[in-house]
Amino acid sequence: MRKQIVAGNWKMNNDLAQTESLLTALKAQTKTSNAEVMVAPTYTNLFQAYQALKESDVEVIAQNMHFAENGAYTGEISASMLKSVGVKTVILGHSERREYFGETDAILAKKVDAALANDLRTIFCFGEVLADRKSGNHEAVVESQIKNALFHLEASPFKNIVLAYEPVWAIGTGETASPEQAQDMHAFIRKTLNDKYGADVANSVSILYGGSVKPNNAQEIFGKPDVDGGLIGGAALNADDFFAIVNAF
Ligand code: PGA
Repeated sequence: MRKQIVAGNWKMNNDLAQTESLLTALKAQTKTSNAEVMVAPTYTNLFQAYQALKESDVEVIAQNMHFAENGAYTGEISASMLKSVGVKTVILGHSERREYFGETDAILAKKVDAALANDLRTIFCFGEVLADRKSGNHEAVVESQIKNALFHLEASPFKNIVLAYEPVWAIGTGETASPEQAQDMHAFIRKTLNDKYGADVANSVSILYGGSVKPNNAQEIFGKPDVDGGLIGGAALNADDFFAIVNAF
């Protein structure tokens, strides 16, 4: 059985007081599905969130990290720093990191290695832009993003990797991939894994969909056989909406 996962990415939202109230609202929710639930606050509020949620059903994860262990990288955060505040999972390769902060496949390969070396589970994000989808290039783009950042790995690290397919044209736009488009791409991703690593890896890696998942569309998207959950942006900033998605399984 693959793990079902719903992860909320708060992005650069919520100061300390706002984080406090969202954490309180999250603690008041009830999980009725088997999904693993995670939220990714900003770095400054990670420890506060970890303390607040450590006895709950919600795991606190990070939005990003640097590949180096420490040193002269002003403004950056390392894997061991994340671990020291209770984090066990990190999102890497989000399209906003790729687009606004110049993160390339090569940089992401190093980040994945650093996360794995530190025993952090990675939620690795990728996805095509609208022009790729329109030109029919979306599968080739996704395949190259996966190959370039992950295919130097052996099979065994994949037990610590979750994939998140996030078509860039659906992030924060209110436009979602249709459940069929999501399923087609997830099946393609699984086939790509199968071709390289075989059925055991392909059938055990959870593949999340991200891009305008909301309470009113989550059930249909999560109902597709190769969709194992979601990476949620906007709707994760409201505890009721987020748990409606968590409980959509
Ligand atoms: P969204 O963001 O749900 O607001 O579209 C998804 C994401 O960026 O992970």
